[in-house]
Amino acid sequence: MCGIVGYTGDELAKDILINGLKRLEYRGYDSAGVALEDATGGVTRIDVIRRVGKVAGLESELAGVDAAATCGIGHTRWATHGRPSMANAHPHTSCDGRIAIVHNGIIENFAELREELAQRGHTFTSDTDTEVFAHLIEEAYYGCATGPVAGAAAGAAADMASGQATSAPAAPGCHDLMAAVREACTRVVGAYGLAAVCADEPGVIAVARKDSPIVIGRGARGSYVASDVIALIDATRDVVVLEDGQFARLAPEGITYTDAEGAPIEPTVTHIDWDIDMAEKGGYPDFMLKEICEQPRVVRDTLVGRMTGGELSIDELGLSLEELNLIDRVYVIACGTSYHAGLIAKNLIEMWARIPCEVEAASEFRYRNPIITPSTLVVAVSQSGETADTLAAIRDARIKGAKVFGITNVVGSPVARESDGVIYTKANKEIAVASTKSFIGQVVSLTLLALLLAQVKYRLTVGQVRMLFRELGDTAEQIQWILDTQKDAIHEAALACKDARSALFVGRGMGAAIANEGALKLKEISYLHAEAYAAGEMKHGPIALIDPGFPVIAIATKSPVYDKTVSNLKECEARGAKIVVVATEGDEDIAQIADHVIYIPPVRDTFSAITATVPLQLLAREVALMRGCDVDQPRNLAKSVTVE
Ligand code: AGP
Repeated sequence: MCGIVGYTGDELAKDILINGLKRLEYRGYDSAGVALEDATGGVTRIDVIRRVGKVAGLESELAGVDAAATCGIGHTRWATHGRPSMANAHPHTSCDGRIAIVHNGIIENFAELREELAQRGHTFTSDTDTEVFAHLIEEAYYGCATGPVAGAAAGAAADMASGQATSAPAAPGCHDLMAAVREACTRVVGAYGLAAVCADEPGVIAVARKDSPIVIGRGARGSYVASDVIALIDATRDVVVLEDGQFARLAPEGITYTDAEGAPIEPTVTHIDWDIDMAEKGGYPDFMLKEICEQPRVVRDTLVGRMTGGELSIDELGLSLEELNLIDRVYVIACGTSYHAGLIAKNLIEMWARIPCEVEAASEFRYRNPIITPSTLVVAVSQSGETADTLAAIRDARIKGAKVFGITNVVGSPVARESDGVIYTKANKEIAVASTKSFIGQVVSLTLLALLLAQVKYRLTVGQVRMLFRELGDTAEQIQWILDTQKDAIHEAALACKDARSALFVGRGMGAAIANEGALKLKEISYLHAEAYAAGEMKHGPIALIDPGFPVIAIATKSPVYDKTVSNLKECEARGAKIVVVATEGDEDIAQIADHVIYIPPVRDTFSAITATVPLQLLAREVALMRGCDVDQPRNLAKSVTVE
């Protein structure tokens, strides 16, 4: 979703901001802007330049601007309050334009604040919730609504004229940007990652955080802030992940950190050990293909160190073996693709550990009253570790007494920090909005968890766990085989689907769970409507959709329900469906009903989700490319969904 960058130092700020914003593009956005200090003529002003659309447009506009600024802030906006437009793009400014801010998150009480501020004479120029922040900081700084000189009287007059009780502005103003930001934050209910600059404090960026990520770093040529480490990794690998309620004041010569009262604090420095190459395309035409091709490595890396002395271990669980043994119910809570990883986990946990497992969309879980006891384990799955609904569900589950275990791809993310224990999926930075390699990392991690629960509950012997662990590792080579051999088959299948208006993904057992992920991938990047159905449910409704040429994409690998799935496909064939099947290598018979067959190597059914998903990812990508879509940045979607 939205992205923040900021820089103050001795280099040209505009280049650093644009490069940072480009790095944040993957998160999804609809407009972009920067605020740059401008000291021409000896008086510092703040110049704000904003554009609807891509960062490249903003870059072209800035190319024509002679901006010598060495301090500035930038933003990519994903619209929540107000449509994508110049006026709604960040940065937003105070009435007199001397303060500019960029903000990620949502201000829940913005309507009340806006009304209150308007009564005191503030003028608003956007529909955003963010803009109130600029005006609150302005009042705290100048003690008035309209600027350093004339405002105090105007504000007071507005109060008297309205006859309404409004909170008093901080007259005569603290004239300290960091203190003004702190004060503004006391008025705001909601989530924020915020960076502010002020023309009266050249070179200073004030930063605040609550429930929205902010990272800060010090490089050789200045101080940097961003909402994602990827935007500042060129400058430094040692970063401070700001905690909720912490503040930072960036200046060219250094950074100071304070708490909500303004008392100095010593921040924790985290070293980033992944390489920027991992976040670049590395010769692939798009990030999505690169990330799909990285999946064999993800399987291997996620398993490293898990089998020590012949025993499966997940030390980061944060639960003793005795506590694990007491677990009698598991909830997997997640959204989107991560939710689909949960569907696969349900099959494994119930089959191996015999513990009832429910999978719930975090957005639903948080508003239900689920049955939670101290022996309930809640597993929160999130690639980004930032998803607002998943975080809210974690908090709710913990209040109700559950142990919460996080599975995430991002070290130090809110999901990691707010869970009792965490497994990292070792996918490394995932850039394409459509999740691929993270999904594989999640399924492998959840498989490990299922095996551990089964071992602790004595449902599987140590020997059985060891054998299954070995086979789990074999899926790395099986994925590689698919990548090496099935390209043409996938291309042919994509040609058969590309002009459809809709498609059905079907399967049974594990295949039904995989079908969900196949359908999501196709719709999110190709904008082709797709739905997933348990194949046995087809005749209870969806079969009515099928007419000649309608694409049905089936997962029919060799499994205990293979024959049943084939019968369901025959019913589709009889109605003229165009059938694409993901089948097991060596299954020649399937070609009798399938128009197109994509093979995966023979694999135990329990692990088929890991391999059979790969052709579906590739199929979605091929269809999307044939339809002229941007596979890395699909419309309307964001990589991290940090709002409800
Ligand atoms: C995946 O392709 C989607 N972009 C989306 O469904 C995603 O999985 C979902 O928003 C959850 O994100 P998370 O894993 O970061 O919590």
